[in-house]
Amino acid sequence: MSEEVDAPYGPTIKRVRTHHLQEMKRRGERWAMLTAYDMYTAQVFDEAGVEVLLVGDSASNNVFGNETSLPVTVEEMLSLTRGVSRSVTRSLVLGDLPFGSYQASAEQGYLTATRFMKEAGAHAVKLEGGREMVPQIERMTRGGIPVCAHIGFTPQSEHALGGYRIQGRGETAQRILDDAKAVQDAGAFAVVLEMVPGDVAARVTEELEIPTVGIGAGPECDAQVLVWQDAFGLRSGRLPRFVKQYADVRTVLLDAATAYTQDVRSGTFPGPEHTFET
Ligand code: KIV
Repeated sequence: MSEEVDAPYGPTIKRVRTHHLQEMKRRGERWAMLTAYDMYTAQVFDEAGVEVLLVGDSASNNVFGNETSLPVTVEEMLSLTRGVSRSVTRSLVLGDLPFGSYQASAEQGYLTATRFMKEAGAHAVKLEGGREMVPQIERMTRGGIPVCAHIGFTPQSEHALGGYRIQGRGETAQRILDDAKAVQDAGAFAVVLEMVPGDVAARVTEELEIPTVGIGAGPECDAQVLVWQDAFGLRSGRLPRFVKQYADVRTVLLDAATAYTQDVRSGTFPGPEHTFET
């Protein structure tokens, strides 16, 4: 049965699978990933044709109000992932394994990843780390779970890395390449490169068979990912240099909430058209 259908935004894939993402790399076609943490954003991004929705552990900062990605729990991530996977028809849903839920051993990682697939409907999982994550990636892929790796700057290791810092400058560029090859050889279907110099990301992209997904890694990656609250302007404050802001959702919401509050205070809302008759 063909998986190609005519969608409102042109001929496209009925349900995005990991092999589609790899075929797109081979054909030189770029694809998009965005974070999503709930039903309505998942529906909108799915309809827009975003190939992969990442239920990122950035939910820790962007949904749960923590300062870093470290405190978010498996249970919290499972709830969000469930909401997203129930709401898409086409996008591949990637569940992000939170800090402490896979680093201890390959078995721990496999058991956590199975929960994302069974209980939350994820189609694949993401974990942070390069060479040191080879046993985890091998165990998961052997057990039928597609894995996306994440190297370069890895937010779960922010304290070990000494804060938000670009990785792979100078002599450490080779380390990024070695990590990328190690996760590919272990069976990862894709790899996120975060905050890596553009020329290093370009070399990794050239040398790998699996797609690279850049965030702060320049234009040569096979795909790009952004946190939606950054890209569409819900978050306040200074944005990282690698973010392009496509909308100002915060102002739209602020204006709407202000107008509603004024209407309630002045008695303009509710009007007769919002009121039931006997
Ligand atoms: O959790 C997240 O949102 C991520 C992306 C920034 C890649 O890991």
